[in-house]
Amino acid sequence: MHFHIITIFPSFFDPFLSEGLIKKGIDKGAFSVSVHDLRDFTDDVHRTVDDRPFGGGSGMVMKVEPIYRAVESLRRENSKVILFTPRGRRFTQKKALEMSKESDIIMICGRYEGIDARVEEHIADEKISIGSYVLMGGEVPAMAVVETVSRILPGAVGKDGFLENRMNEEGFAEYKQYTRPEVFSPCEGVEWKVPKTLLSGDHKKVSQWKNKRKRIIK
Ligand code: ADE
Repeated sequence: MHFHIITIFPSFFDPFLSEGLIKKGIDKGAFSVSVHDLRDFTDDVHRTVDDRPFGGGSGMVMKVEPIYRAVESLRRENSKVILFTPRGRRFTQKKALEMSKESDIIMICGRYEGIDARVEEHIADEKISIGSYVLMGGEVPAMAVVETVSRILPGAVGKDGFLENRMNEEGFAEYKQYTRPEVFSPCEGVEWKVPKTLLSGDHKKVSQWKNKRKRIIK
């Protein structure tokens, strides 16, 4: 699986890609990520990526040509091209599972007040929103997609297959979890305890307890 990210802020991704499980997954070869500076695909000395909107209005609109050139230089036969916009289809665990079957994903991060609509009309295969709120751009959504999709790729996180028993067509199972100490006292007279069942060693009861509190993330 390869993720391409097209952005005007490539350095946003430096810490993201060089820490923790993302770095580990990349080092193990479970997936790879390349970040592309949209300004490298401009053809003027000012490396212009935006312009005023036709028909008036405030703010700037991202131009179609640099995005076209960037995508065309990266696109392969099986590439899936995604545009991040709050008007897109909602990104969910199910969608992440679908995306984890792709081999090459090209993500376009919009910025400013908008992107020339010809990008969604002619270049992107799909528009994705990560939630019903308006961010300043598509960089945070791109990170959300890389994190969510990469952690379900085989071999990316932990021991091979350790997430599989928590995942099926229905969604991803999330449980309440606790670790030591069994009792934590934040101040005198107050005790925060781990539920007794989890300490019982009775596997059947433990699994009943977990199932009762399970949340399926769809
Ligand atoms: N760009 C701005 N807001 C966004 C959102 N909620 N999802 C995806 N892209 C966005």
